[in-house]
Amino acid sequence: MIIHHVEKPGCGTLAQLHADCFPRGWSALELAELLAEPGMISLSEGRPKARGFILCRVVLDEAEILTLAVARECRGLGIGHALLDQAVSRAELAGAKSVFLEVSTRNEAAITLYTKCGFVRGGLRRDYYADGSDALVMEKTLRE
Ligand SMILES: CC(C)(COP(=O)(O)OP(=O)(O)OC[C@H]1O[C@@H](n2cnc3c(N)ncnc32)[C@H](O)[C@@H]1OP(=O)(O)O)[C@@H](O)C(=O)NCCC(=O)NCCS
Repeated sequence: MIIHHVEKPGCGTLAQLHADCFPRGWSALELAELLAEPGMISLSEGRPKARGFILCRVVLDEAEILTLAVARECRGLGIGHALLDQAVSRAELAGAKSVFLEVSTRNEAAITLYTKCGFVRGGLRRDYYADGSDALVMEKTLRE
């Protein structure tokens, strides 16, 4: 498995992958703007065509996973797990003491993955997503 930094020219491919994974996809331009934000950790797996990617933003001592997406035909191969592990390690190196994320309570695959990677359940944000589902906040403490 080869994990590397996302470069701006790759945003078109990642936008397609993202649109295939989420009801409201991000455009290549939106992705490129996110990549340029301070504290952004952006990693993808697979070359030349990315099979999955993750965006994680570190602000002071807190990191947030903004998105994690693996192409449908490449799921169940450990790519999501590897991307998440790498992003969390890099966030810690960048000074994060904790990492949090939001995930739909209906997204069993993602909740299982996050739990496996050491995230614990926090609060609920009611009716958070367009489909009416609640968002579960999950957090992983890296150091006290
Ligand atoms: C969630 C997602 C990123 C998982 O990626 P993946 O590469 O298939 O996950 P991995 O192969 O690394 O799986 C790691 C662990 O997650 C859990 N998992 C993954 N898919 C699962 C599924 N469909 N059902 C239950 N558990 C699942 C398992 O515990 C798995 O470990 P195991 O294979 O040893 O049992 C992928 O399904 C995806 O892109 N979904 C659409 C986008 C999305 O929901 N992103 C998260 C938004 S918060």
